[in-house]
Amino acid sequence: MTQRKYRVIQWCTGVVGKVALRHFIENPAFQLVGVLVTNPEKVGKDAGDLVGLPPTGVTATDDIDRIIALDADCVHYAPRVADTDMICRLLRSGKNVASVGGPFSPEHYPEQFDRIEAACDEGGVSYHACGIHPGFSGDILPLTLTRLMNRVDHIQVYEFIDKLENPMIYTEVMGFGRDPGELLAKPSRSPEAPYAFAQSMALVAEGLGKKIENITTQLEVATATRDIPYEVGEGLPGGVIRKGTVGGQHYEWTAWADGSPLITYHFFWSMGADIEPRWDIDSRYQVVIEGDPPLEVRLMGRPGADGVRPFLGLPWTGLLGATAVPAVCDARPGVITHIDLGVVQPRGLVRP
Ligand SMILES: NC(=O)c1ccc[n+]([C@@H]2O[C@H](COP(=O)([O-])OP(=O)(O)OC[C@H]3O[C@@H](n4cnc5c(N)ncnc54)[C@H](OP(=O)(O)O)[C@@H]3O)[C@@H](O)[C@H]2O)c1
Repeated sequence: MTQRKYRVIQWCTGVVGKVALRHFIENPAFQLVGVLVTNPEKVGKDAGDLVGLPPTGVTATDDIDRIIALDADCVHYAPRVADTDMICRLLRSGKNVASVGGPFSPEHYPEQFDRIEAACDEGGVSYHACGIHPGFSGDILPLTLTRLMNRVDHIQVYEFIDKLENPMIYTEVMGFGRDPGELLAKPSRSPEAPYAFAQSMALVAEGLGKKIENITTQLEVATATRDIPYEVGEGLPGGVIRKGTVGGQHYEWTAWADGSPLITYHFFWSMGADIEPRWDIDSRYQVVIEGDPPLEVRLMGRPGADGVRPFLGLPWTGLLGATAVPAVCDARPGVITHIDLGVVQPRGLVRP
């Protein structure tokens, strides 16, 4: 077993980036060598300071050239919006990249992936996109679970998020509080969104020896049965979801193979329980495989002292990115899928 330390750069320190940064500082398998931030208030701060840990001697910078000049094995790339040109620049500078914001799907974004492959070649390094979904709940997890089956008919993957219990700044952008008819006519998720997940669907299909023929989508809306006040966190003002407006959204995307639905992703997002129709709102991922024998797995955080079960999608994304870093560094140069990586063996997780 290799004892090498992996020299990492954390690119951006949002919710996901901070979880990874903390991991890189605390896990002796890693040596943190740089932190890129965009927020001027974070520039010059010690990396430890950004995540409530003792000083590390590594200060956050917004100077991209300084980051590019660093000698590092890998960049854990977690900006709000991924930039393929920047990813290529990092790759060309000889740094592997693990990106939680994609791009994820070579079949649907061939031009971007041609550039990424060329940059990997030039830098002699690899690129891997990962996260909780896409990147785990809808691909590695169900594909692994199919080994418990005699026959697979239909794989259904669910994401349930109660946004009232898990405040985030995107509540309004996501379409909560809008007129239901308006949202149905102009959904908050772009028509492109399924394609960010298409690689996950393709990976499961490929793993089962099948090819996806097409993807169909549906949107169902639930309405608030009372005025629902909400917070958004980060010290920003919240708002109120008015009775009768959008209080819940259910996106459903189905991948078809051999003329039948093979994989369906469901996203149930709600603003608490006071919505009609009433949905199960316990935040979690869930995989249901119909076939022989039928199977169900629920992936959820443990409830805290207040009895509330936190939705861990964002922290899990940071951890999936961070724990993939050693395998991405050790992989052959080029774009590396989950199938290429095989069973990832995380480093340094068992420690005093
Ligand atoms: N695959 C998955 O399952 C999955 C799940 C969740 C999220 N994600 C992806 O993970 C990434 C990070 O998510 P997050 O929740 O941590 O995001 P976030 O908190 O909204 O923002 C991440 C950070 O990006 C920097 N930033 C802010 N504005 C920016 C801008 N206009 N352009 C570029 N960077 C900007 C900031 O870094 P500083 O504060 O350091 O300046 C910010 O804290 C996103 O790309 C998201 O799509 C993937």
